[in-house]
Amino acid sequence: MSISPADFEFMRRFVLERSAIVLDESKQYLVETRLETLLRTEGSSESPSTLIAKLRAAPTGALADKVVDAMTTNETSFFRDLHPFDALRRDVLPELIQRNAADRSLSIWCGAASSGQEPFTIAMTILEGFPQIAGWKLKFVATDISHEMLARCREGRYSQLEVNRGLPAPLLVKYFDRDGLHWRIKDSLRRMVEFRELNLVGSWPMLPALDIVFLRNVLIYFDAPTKQKIFARIHKAMKPDGYLFLGAAESTLGYSEAFERAKVGATHCFRPRATVSSPSGS
Ligand SMILES: C[S@@+](CC[C@H](N)C(=O)[O-])C[C@H]1O[C@@H](n2cnc3c(N)ncnc32)[C@H](O)[C@@H]1O
Repeated sequence: MSISPADFEFMRRFVLERSAIVLDESKQYLVETRLETLLRTEGSSESPSTLIAKLRAAPTGALADKVVDAMTTNETSFFRDLHPFDALRRDVLPELIQRNAADRSLSIWCGAASSGQEPFTIAMTILEGFPQIAGWKLKFVATDISHEMLARCREGRYSQLEVNRGLPAPLLVKYFDRDGLHWRIKDSLRRMVEFRELNLVGSWPMLPALDIVFLRNVLIYFDAPTKQKIFARIHKAMKPDGYLFLGAAESTLGYSEAFERAKVGATHCFRPRATVSSPSGS
């Protein structure tokens, strides 16, 4: 059922303010279908317009959180794009393990974790290639804005279809247990990652100085000033010799002078520059 132009305008502003996600004029259909899906999931027979009227009356709280959640795109898979994880295994982790050998610590942040496939792929890459890290202080935080996705991350339960997308069979057998028609990630792997809510345009909790940041396939939803601010914050949060991984279609280029693009194996990542003239602060 279609919503009025005024309701669509309200939704665009609401979603932008709450999540920085830009919904351009072509996205009315997307807004409508996602609100309909939300209503169906909630067992409600209301129309999207009625839902928006409620949202106008109460733009914060549980309903508002659910609507923001519904507007996020959570597409992800195990070993998505493959090359970043090859680069981790072959280049980045060996280098960081050597560099951090004295204090035996490693800090990783995955900033748009969706349903968890990405952080669990990183965790499996570590366990498979670098068992010596077992005794290290590993601080591995994975965050997302979506409550629903964080619940899925913490549960670590995936359908056959989801594990078929990118997860090699030997890793499935080694790190997952059958759970009816699903697969549940083993506790040893799940416990490596701490899941927290974090809105990239909200306040950031204290993160340790970061060796590795994965922030893939989320900046594409934001406008240029938002990307600039986020890159400036990431630069502050990273160790000077850390590694930032973005999605295949994403770059710091044009948004931040604080990073330089570096080829690592068959992919690119972004390294903090020593001296920075950043376009915008904080
Ligand atoms: C397309 S998924 C990317 C998942 C994973 N990084 C990957 O590349 O496979 C984008 C994720 O960004 C999250 N997201 C969108 N806006 C956000 C915001 N303002 N703060 C934090 N996460 C956000 C969504 O909830 C969604 O799970």
